[in-house]
Amino acid sequence: VSKVPTRADAVQLDRLDRLAAYRARFSLPADVCYLDGNSLGALPRGTSARLHQVIEQQWGHDLIRSWNAHGWIDLPQRIGAALAPLVGASADEIIVCDSVSVNLFKLLSAALRRNDPRKVILTEASNFPTDVYVAQGLVRTGVSAAELRVVPRTELECNLDEHVAVLLLTHVDYQSAAAHDIRRLTDQAHRAGALVLWDLSHSVGAMPLSLADDQVDFAVGCGYKYLCGGPGAPAFAFVAQRHLPQLESALVGWMGHQQPFAFAIDYRPADGIDRLLCGTPPILSMMALEVGVQLIAEIGITAIREKSQALTEFFRQCVEPWLAESGLRWGSPLNPTQRGSHLSLHHPAAHAIVQALIAQRVIGDFRAPDLVRLGFAAPYVSFVDVWEAADRLREMMRTGSYDQPQYHVRAKVT
Ligand SMILES: Cc1ncc(COP(=O)(O)O)c(C=O)c1O
Repeated sequence: VSKVPTRADAVQLDRLDRLAAYRARFSLPADVCYLDGNSLGALPRGTSARLHQVIEQQWGHDLIRSWNAHGWIDLPQRIGAALAPLVGASADEIIVCDSVSVNLFKLLSAALRRNDPRKVILTEASNFPTDVYVAQGLVRTGVSAAELRVVPRTELECNLDEHVAVLLLTHVDYQSAAAHDIRRLTDQAHRAGALVLWDLSHSVGAMPLSLADDQVDFAVGCGYKYLCGGPGAPAFAFVAQRHLPQLESALVGWMGHQQPFAFAIDYRPADGIDRLLCGTPPILSMMALEVGVQLIAEIGITAIREKSQALTEFFRQCVEPWLAESGLRWGSPLNPTQRGSHLSLHHPAAHAIVQALIAQRVIGDFRAPDLVRLGFAAPYVSFVDVWEAADRLREMMRTGSYDQPQYHVRAKVT
Protein backbone atom coordinates (compact mmCIF):
# COMPACT_ATOMS: atom_id res chain seq x y z
CA VAL A 1 0.00 0.00 0.00
CA SER A 2 1.35 3.42 -0.99
CA LYS A 3 1.89 6.20 1.56
CA VAL A 4 -1.54 7.78 0.97
CA PRO A 5 -3.79 4.82 0.21
CA THR A 6 -6.12 4.96 -2.77
CA ARG A 7 -9.46 3.23 -3.20
CA ALA A 8 -7.68 0.73 -5.46
CA ASP A 9 -5.39 -0.13 -2.52
CA ALA A 10 -8.47 -0.84 -0.42
CA VAL A 11 -9.96 -3.04 -3.14
CA GLN A 12 -6.70 -4.97 -3.30
CA LEU A 13 -6.59 -5.43 0.48
CA ASP A 14 -10.16 -6.77 0.39
CA ARG A 15 -9.09 -9.24 -2.30
CA LEU A 16 -6.34 -10.53 -0.05
CA ASP A 17 -8.52 -10.58 3.08
CA ARG A 18 -9.09 -14.15 4.26
CA LEU A 19 -12.16 -13.05 6.25
CA ALA A 20 -13.81 -11.16 3.37
CA ALA A 21 -16.31 -13.93 2.66
CA TYR A 22 -17.75 -13.67 6.19
CA ARG A 23 -19.34 -10.30 5.40
CA ALA A 24 -22.04 -12.21 3.51
CA ARG A 25 -22.90 -14.00 6.75
CA PHE A 26 -24.18 -10.68 8.12
CA SER A 27 -27.24 -8.75 7.06
CA LEU A 28 -25.94 -5.23 6.42
CA PRO A 29 -27.36 -2.52 4.13
CA ALA A 30 -25.15 -2.45 1.03
CA ASP A 31 -24.54 1.30 1.07
CA VAL A 32 -23.66 1.68 4.77
CA CYS A 33 -20.15 1.77 6.25
CA TYR A 34 -20.96 0.31 9.64
CA LEU A 35 -18.27 1.42 12.08
CA ASP A 36 -20.22 0.93 15.30
CA GLY A 37 -19.91 -2.79 15.93
CA ASN A 38 -18.23 -1.87 19.21
CA SER A 39 -21.62 -0.55 20.37
CA LEU A 40 -24.08 -2.85 18.63
CA GLY A 41 -22.75 -5.74 16.59
CA ALA A 42 -24.26 -6.35 13.15
CA LEU A 43 -27.05 -8.90 12.61
CA PRO A 44 -25.82 -12.37 11.61
CA ARG A 45 -27.90 -13.75 8.75
CA GLY A 46 -28.57 -16.91 10.72
CA THR A 47 -30.26 -15.07 13.56
CA SER A 48 -33.60 -14.33 11.93
CA ALA A 49 -34.11 -17.92 10.78
CA ARG A 50 -33.08 -19.24 14.20
CA LEU A 51 -35.43 -16.91 16.06
CA HIS A 52 -38.24 -17.65 13.64
CA GLN A 53 -37.83 -21.37 14.31
CA VAL A 54 -37.59 -20.89 18.07
CA ILE A 55 -40.67 -18.68 18.12
CA GLU A 56 -42.88 -20.74 15.82
CA GLN A 57 -41.78 -24.28 16.57
CA GLN A 58 -40.45 -24.18 20.12
CA TRP A 59 -42.54 -21.48 21.75
CA GLY A 60 -45.60 -21.65 19.48
CA HIS A 61 -45.91 -25.38 19.09
CA ASP A 62 -43.94 -27.15 21.76
CA LEU A 63 -44.78 -24.54 24.39
CA ILE A 64 -43.52 -25.12 27.92
CA ARG A 65 -42.19 -28.56 27.02
CA SER A 66 -39.37 -26.71 25.24
CA TRP A 67 -37.57 -26.02 28.55
CA ASN A 68 -36.57 -29.69 28.50
CA ALA A 69 -37.15 -30.77 24.91
CA HIS A 70 -35.13 -27.96 23.36
CA GLY A 71 -32.69 -27.47 26.21
CA TRP A 72 -33.85 -23.95 27.07
CA ILE A 73 -32.90 -24.53 30.68
CA ASP A 74 -29.27 -25.26 29.72
CA LEU A 75 -28.71 -22.22 27.51
CA PRO A 76 -26.74 -20.19 30.10
CA GLN A 77 -24.19 -23.00 30.38
CA ARG A 78 -24.31 -23.98 26.71
CA ILE A 79 -23.50 -20.48 25.44
CA GLY A 80 -20.92 -20.15 28.23
CA ALA A 81 -19.20 -23.26 26.89
CA ALA A 82 -19.18 -21.81 23.37
CA LEU A 83 -17.65 -18.59 24.73
CA ALA A 84 -14.98 -20.29 26.82
CA PRO A 85 -12.35 -20.69 24.06
CA LEU A 86 -12.80 -17.03 23.07
CA VAL A 87 -11.68 -15.91 26.53
CA GLY A 88 -9.25 -18.70 27.41
CA ALA A 89 -11.39 -20.26 30.14
CA SER A 90 -12.90 -23.68 30.67
CA ALA A 91 -16.56 -24.28 30.00
CA ASP A 92 -17.55 -24.61 33.65
CA GLU A 93 -16.12 -21.19 34.53
CA ILE A 94 -18.54 -19.16 32.38
CA ILE A 95 -22.26 -18.53 32.56
CA VAL A 96 -24.42 -16.33 30.33
CA CYS A 97 -27.04 -14.27 32.12
CA ASP A 98 -28.33 -10.80 32.94
CA SER A 99 -26.50 -7.61 31.92
CA VAL A 100 -22.90 -6.59 32.53
CA SER A 101 -24.11 -4.19 35.22
CA VAL A 102 -26.00 -6.90 37.13
CA ASN A 103 -23.12 -9.37 36.83
CA LEU A 104 -20.73 -6.72 38.11
CA PHE A 105 -22.86 -6.39 41.23
CA LYS A 106 -22.84 -10.14 41.80
CA LEU A 107 -19.10 -10.55 41.32
CA LEU A 108 -18.08 -7.44 43.23
CA SER A 109 -20.09 -8.58 46.23
CA ALA A 110 -18.61 -12.08 45.89
CA ALA A 111 -15.07 -10.72 45.64
CA LEU A 112 -15.54 -8.63 48.80
CA ARG A 113 -16.79 -11.64 50.75
CA ARG A 114 -13.97 -13.76 49.42
CA ASN A 115 -11.33 -11.25 50.47
CA ASP A 116 -12.77 -10.30 53.84
CA PRO A 117 -11.71 -8.36 55.95
CA ARG A 118 -10.40 -6.13 53.17
CA LYS A 119 -13.00 -3.50 52.22
CA VAL A 120 -11.76 -1.42 49.31
CA ILE A 121 -12.90 -1.65 45.69
CA LEU A 122 -10.18 0.06 43.65
CA THR A 123 -10.99 1.38 40.18
CA GLU A 124 -9.98 4.10 37.75
CA ALA A 125 -11.75 7.39 37.10
CA SER A 126 -11.95 6.71 33.36
CA ASN A 127 -13.72 3.38 33.80
CA PHE A 128 -17.08 2.92 32.06
CA PRO A 129 -19.59 4.71 34.29
CA THR A 130 -21.83 1.71 34.97
CA ASP A 131 -18.88 -0.12 36.57
CA VAL A 132 -18.44 2.76 38.98
CA TYR A 133 -22.18 3.21 39.57
CA VAL A 134 -22.59 -0.46 40.47
CA ALA A 135 -19.72 -0.18 42.95
CA GLN A 136 -21.24 3.00 44.40
CA GLY A 137 -24.60 1.26 44.73
CA LEU A 138 -23.04 -1.72 46.44
CA VAL A 139 -21.22 0.54 48.90
CA ARG A 140 -24.50 2.29 49.73
CA THR A 141 -26.21 -1.01 50.58
CA GLY A 142 -23.69 -1.48 53.37
CA VAL A 143 -22.91 -5.02 52.14
CA SER A 144 -19.48 -6.02 53.42
CA ALA A 145 -18.95 -2.43 54.66
CA ALA A 146 -17.29 -1.82 51.30
CA GLU A 147 -15.47 1.35 50.34
CA LEU A 148 -14.84 2.63 46.85
CA ARG A 149 -11.57 4.23 45.82
CA VAL A 150 -11.56 5.85 42.37
CA VAL A 151 -8.14 7.00 41.19
CA PRO A 152 -6.58 8.26 37.95
CA ARG A 153 -5.38 5.52 35.60
CA THR A 154 -1.75 6.36 36.30
CA GLU A 155 -2.22 5.88 40.05
CA LEU A 156 -3.73 2.41 40.10
CA GLU A 157 -0.55 0.56 40.98
CA CYS A 158 0.50 2.81 43.83
CA ASN A 159 -3.00 2.41 45.30
CA LEU A 160 -2.78 -1.36 45.53
CA ASP A 161 -2.31 -1.39 49.29
CA GLU A 162 -3.26 -3.81 52.07
CA HIS A 163 -6.85 -2.50 52.19
CA VAL A 164 -7.76 -3.31 48.59
CA ALA A 165 -10.08 -6.31 48.32
CA VAL A 166 -10.69 -6.12 44.59
CA LEU A 167 -9.26 -4.26 41.63
CA LEU A 168 -12.10 -3.49 39.19
CA LEU A 169 -11.00 -2.52 35.69
CA THR A 170 -12.21 -2.49 32.11
CA HIS A 171 -9.72 -4.14 29.77
CA VAL A 172 -10.24 -1.91 26.70
CA ASP A 173 -11.23 1.66 27.50
CA TYR A 174 -14.58 2.57 25.95
CA GLN A 175 -13.32 6.01 24.98
CA SER A 176 -9.66 5.73 24.01
CA ALA A 177 -9.54 1.97 23.22
CA ALA A 178 -6.36 1.81 25.33
CA ALA A 179 -5.89 -1.77 26.51
CA HIS A 180 -4.65 -2.60 29.98
CA ASP A 181 -2.15 -5.42 30.37
CA ILE A 182 -4.40 -7.99 32.06
CA ARG A 183 -1.61 -10.35 33.02
CA ARG A 184 0.64 -7.70 34.54
CA LEU A 185 -2.07 -5.91 36.53
CA THR A 186 -3.62 -9.17 37.71
CA ASP A 187 -0.23 -10.30 38.93
CA GLN A 188 0.40 -7.01 40.69
CA ALA A 189 -3.00 -7.11 42.37
CA HIS A 190 -2.39 -10.65 43.56
CA ARG A 191 0.98 -9.72 45.00
CA ALA A 192 -0.76 -6.98 46.95
CA GLY A 193 -3.33 -9.50 48.21
CA ALA A 194 -6.18 -8.18 46.07
CA LEU A 195 -8.50 -10.02 43.68
CA VAL A 196 -9.26 -8.74 40.17
CA LEU A 197 -12.52 -8.26 38.30
CA TRP A 198 -12.11 -7.45 34.60
CA ASP A 199 -14.83 -5.96 32.41
CA LEU A 200 -14.19 -7.41 28.94
CA SER A 201 -17.06 -5.64 27.17
CA HIS A 202 -14.82 -3.99 24.56
CA SER A 203 -12.51 -6.93 24.03
CA VAL A 204 -14.54 -10.15 23.98
CA GLY A 205 -15.05 -11.19 20.36
CA ALA A 206 -12.50 -8.64 19.16
CA MET A 207 -9.24 -9.99 20.57
CA PRO A 208 -7.98 -13.23 22.11
CA LEU A 209 -8.10 -13.40 25.89
CA SER A 210 -6.40 -15.84 28.24
CA LEU A 211 -8.23 -15.60 31.55
CA ALA A 212 -6.95 -18.91 32.92
CA ASP A 213 -3.32 -18.37 31.94
CA ASP A 214 -3.44 -14.82 33.28
CA GLN A 215 -4.80 -16.07 36.62
CA VAL A 216 -7.82 -13.76 36.42
CA ASP A 217 -10.23 -14.21 39.32
CA PHE A 218 -13.46 -12.75 37.95
CA ALA A 219 -14.65 -11.20 34.69
CA VAL A 220 -17.77 -9.96 32.95
CA GLY A 221 -18.44 -9.10 29.32
CA CYS A 222 -21.02 -7.83 26.91
CA GLY A 223 -23.05 -9.87 24.41
CA TYR A 224 -24.34 -7.12 22.13
CA LYS A 225 -21.08 -5.60 20.90
CA TYR A 226 -18.48 -7.76 19.17
CA LEU A 227 -20.39 -10.98 19.90
CA CYS A 228 -23.28 -9.80 17.70
CA GLY A 229 -25.93 -11.09 20.12
CA GLY A 230 -28.48 -8.35 19.35
CA PRO A 231 -29.69 -5.24 21.19
CA GLY A 232 -29.67 -5.84 24.94
CA ALA A 233 -28.20 -9.33 24.55
CA PRO A 234 -27.38 -11.13 27.79
CA ALA A 235 -23.90 -10.73 29.23
CA PHE A 236 -21.54 -13.32 30.72
CA ALA A 237 -19.77 -13.85 34.00
CA PHE A 238 -16.50 -15.71 34.54
CA VAL A 239 -15.27 -17.10 37.86
CA ALA A 240 -11.96 -18.95 38.12
CA GLN A 241 -12.41 -22.53 39.19
CA ARG A 242 -10.47 -21.98 42.42
CA HIS A 243 -13.09 -19.50 43.67
CA LEU A 244 -16.20 -21.44 42.71
CA PRO A 245 -16.72 -23.64 45.77
CA GLN A 246 -16.86 -20.63 48.15
CA LEU A 247 -18.48 -18.14 45.77
CA GLU A 248 -21.19 -16.12 47.51
CA SER A 249 -22.98 -13.39 45.61
CA ALA A 250 -25.25 -10.89 47.33
CA LEU A 251 -27.76 -11.27 44.52
CA VAL A 252 -29.25 -14.75 44.32
CA GLY A 253 -32.42 -16.26 42.92
CA TRP A 254 -34.20 -19.50 42.22
CA MET A 255 -32.33 -20.35 39.00
CA GLY A 256 -29.12 -20.41 41.01
CA HIS A 257 -30.55 -22.77 43.61
CA GLN A 258 -29.25 -26.30 43.82
CA GLN A 259 -32.75 -27.61 43.04
CA PRO A 260 -34.93 -24.83 41.64
CA PHE A 261 -37.86 -27.16 41.17
CA ALA A 262 -37.77 -28.51 44.71
CA PHE A 263 -39.19 -25.10 45.69
CA ALA A 264 -37.48 -25.27 49.06
CA ILE A 265 -37.84 -22.06 51.04
CA ASP A 266 -34.18 -21.79 52.03
CA TYR A 267 -31.58 -20.85 49.47
CA ARG A 268 -28.86 -23.38 48.80
CA PRO A 269 -26.41 -22.41 46.07
CA ALA A 270 -26.06 -24.66 43.03
CA ASP A 271 -22.68 -26.28 42.56
CA GLY A 272 -20.22 -24.26 40.56
CA ILE A 273 -20.89 -21.34 38.25
CA ASP A 274 -24.65 -22.04 38.06
CA ARG A 275 -25.08 -20.27 41.38
CA LEU A 276 -24.64 -16.95 39.58
CA LEU A 277 -28.01 -17.35 37.91
CA CYS A 278 -30.89 -15.39 39.41
CA GLY A 279 -34.11 -15.33 37.41
CA THR A 280 -35.46 -16.98 34.28
CA PRO A 281 -33.21 -16.55 31.24
CA PRO A 282 -34.61 -14.50 28.29
CA ILE A 283 -34.73 -17.40 25.83
CA LEU A 284 -35.21 -15.42 22.62
CA SER A 285 -32.26 -13.18 23.42
CA MET A 286 -30.16 -16.16 24.46
CA MET A 287 -30.87 -17.90 21.15
CA ALA A 288 -29.84 -14.81 19.20
CA LEU A 289 -26.64 -14.52 21.24
CA GLU A 290 -25.82 -18.16 20.60
CA VAL A 291 -25.88 -17.55 16.84
CA GLY A 292 -23.50 -14.60 17.25
CA VAL A 293 -21.08 -16.45 19.53
CA GLN A 294 -20.97 -19.48 17.23
CA LEU A 295 -20.28 -17.30 14.21
CA ILE A 296 -17.47 -15.36 15.92
CA ALA A 297 -15.95 -18.62 17.16
CA GLU A 298 -16.17 -20.07 13.64
CA ILE A 299 -14.38 -17.07 12.12
CA GLY A 300 -11.63 -17.43 14.72
CA ILE A 301 -10.53 -14.87 17.28
CA THR A 302 -6.88 -14.77 16.21
CA ALA A 303 -7.80 -13.97 12.60
CA ILE A 304 -10.32 -11.37 13.84
CA ARG A 305 -7.66 -9.61 15.90
CA GLU A 306 -5.17 -9.67 13.04
CA LYS A 307 -7.65 -8.11 10.62
CA SER A 308 -8.94 -5.54 13.09
CA GLN A 309 -5.40 -4.29 13.64
CA ALA A 310 -4.93 -4.07 9.87
CA LEU A 311 -8.23 -2.14 9.52
CA THR A 312 -7.41 0.40 12.24
CA GLU A 313 -3.90 0.88 10.83
CA PHE A 314 -5.34 1.35 7.33
CA PHE A 315 -7.70 4.03 8.64
CA ARG A 316 -4.76 5.76 10.29
CA GLN A 317 -2.81 5.72 7.04
CA CYS A 318 -5.81 7.17 5.18
CA VAL A 319 -6.37 10.11 7.54
CA GLU A 320 -2.84 10.85 8.76
CA PRO A 321 -1.83 13.11 5.80
CA TRP A 322 -4.61 15.67 6.50
CA LEU A 323 -5.43 15.05 10.15
CA ALA A 324 -3.50 17.93 11.75
CA GLU A 325 -5.02 20.61 9.52
CA SER A 326 -8.55 19.22 10.08
CA GLY A 327 -8.46 19.94 13.81
CA LEU A 328 -9.02 16.26 14.62
CA ARG A 329 -6.61 14.74 17.14
CA TRP A 330 -5.97 11.09 18.04
CA GLY A 331 -7.59 9.90 21.26
CA SER A 332 -6.29 6.32 20.92
CA PRO A 333 -2.86 4.73 21.35
CA LEU A 334 -0.96 4.83 18.06
CA ASN A 335 0.54 1.39 18.62
CA PRO A 336 -2.06 -1.19 17.50
CA THR A 337 -0.90 -3.72 20.11
CA GLN A 338 -1.86 -1.26 22.85
CA ARG A 339 -5.45 -0.73 21.78
CA GLY A 340 -8.65 -2.64 21.11
CA SER A 341 -10.69 -2.58 17.92
CA HIS A 342 -11.94 1.00 17.81
CA LEU A 343 -10.35 4.40 17.28
CA SER A 344 -11.25 7.73 18.82
CA LEU A 345 -10.61 11.23 17.55
CA HIS A 346 -11.00 14.41 19.56
CA HIS A 347 -12.72 17.43 18.04
CA PRO A 348 -14.77 20.22 19.67
CA ALA A 349 -17.53 19.58 17.09
CA ALA A 350 -17.38 15.77 17.47
CA HIS A 351 -21.14 15.42 17.89
CA ALA A 352 -21.96 17.28 14.67
CA ILE A 353 -19.22 15.43 12.79
CA VAL A 354 -20.66 12.05 13.82
CA GLN A 355 -24.18 13.11 12.84
CA ALA A 356 -22.99 14.40 9.49
CA LEU A 357 -21.11 11.15 8.88
CA ILE A 358 -24.25 9.18 9.69
CA ALA A 359 -26.18 11.32 7.20
CA GLN A 360 -23.58 10.18 4.65
CA ARG A 361 -24.09 6.57 5.69
CA VAL A 362 -20.92 6.19 7.72
CA ILE A 363 -22.17 5.03 11.11
CA GLY A 364 -19.97 5.67 14.12
CA ASP A 365 -20.82 7.23 17.46
CA PHE A 366 -20.15 10.25 19.63
CA ARG A 367 -18.85 9.97 23.16
CA ALA A 368 -19.01 13.03 25.36
CA PRO A 369 -17.41 15.41 25.63
CA ASP A 370 -15.55 15.51 22.31
CA LEU A 371 -14.93 12.08 20.78
CA VAL A 372 -15.69 10.71 17.34
CA ARG A 373 -15.57 6.96 17.94
CA LEU A 374 -15.25 4.47 15.10
CA GLY A 375 -15.32 0.69 15.55
CA PHE A 376 -13.68 -1.77 13.17
CA ALA A 377 -15.38 -5.13 13.64
CA ALA A 378 -13.26 -7.43 11.51
CA PRO A 379 -15.93 -10.04 10.67
CA TYR A 380 -17.88 -7.62 8.46
CA VAL A 381 -15.96 -4.37 7.94
CA SER A 382 -14.05 -4.17 4.65
CA PHE A 383 -11.00 -2.10 3.72
CA VAL A 384 -13.19 -0.28 1.17
CA ASP A 385 -15.58 0.65 4.02
CA VAL A 386 -12.62 2.11 5.88
CA TRP A 387 -11.34 4.01 2.86
CA GLU A 388 -14.83 5.41 2.13
CA ALA A 389 -15.28 6.50 5.72
CA ALA A 390 -11.91 8.26 5.74
CA ASP A 391 -12.67 9.89 2.40
CA ARG A 392 -16.05 11.25 3.52
CA LEU A 393 -14.53 12.46 6.76
CA ARG A 394 -11.73 14.24 4.86
CA GLU A 395 -14.19 16.00 2.57
CA MET A 396 -16.41 17.00 5.47
CA MET A 397 -13.49 18.42 7.45
CA ARG A 398 -12.22 20.28 4.38
CA THR A 399 -15.57 21.96 3.65
CA GLY A 400 -16.89 22.25 7.22
CA SER A 401 -20.18 20.74 5.98
CA TYR A 402 -20.82 19.13 9.37
CA ASP A 403 -21.53 22.54 10.89
CA GLN A 404 -25.28 22.61 10.25
CA PRO A 405 -28.05 23.05 12.81
CA GLN A 406 -29.57 19.58 12.32
CA TYR A 407 -26.24 17.94 13.20
CA HIS A 408 -26.09 19.74 16.54
CA VAL A 409 -29.41 18.32 17.78
CA ARG A 410 -28.72 15.74 20.48
CA ALA A 411 -30.89 12.62 20.59
CA LYS A 412 -31.38 10.50 23.74
CA VAL A 413 -28.84 7.97 22.51
CA THR A 414 -25.61 9.25 20.98
C1 LIG B 1 -17.10 -1.32 29.44
C2 LIG B 1 -18.58 -1.46 29.54
N1 LIG B 1 -19.14 -2.05 30.60
C3 LIG B 1 -20.48 -2.19 30.71
C4 LIG B 1 -21.33 -1.72 29.74
C5 LIG B 1 -22.82 -1.84 29.92
O1 LIG B 1 -23.22 -3.12 30.02
P1 LIG B 1 -24.76 -3.49 30.30
O2 LIG B 1 -25.58 -2.55 29.48
O3 LIG B 1 -24.87 -4.91 29.84
O4 LIG B 1 -25.00 -3.36 31.75
C6 LIG B 1 -20.79 -1.11 28.60
C7 LIG B 1 -21.69 -0.61 27.55
O5 LIG B 1 -21.33 0.01 26.59
C8 LIG B 1 -19.40 -0.97 28.50
O6 LIG B 1 -18.86 -0.36 27.45
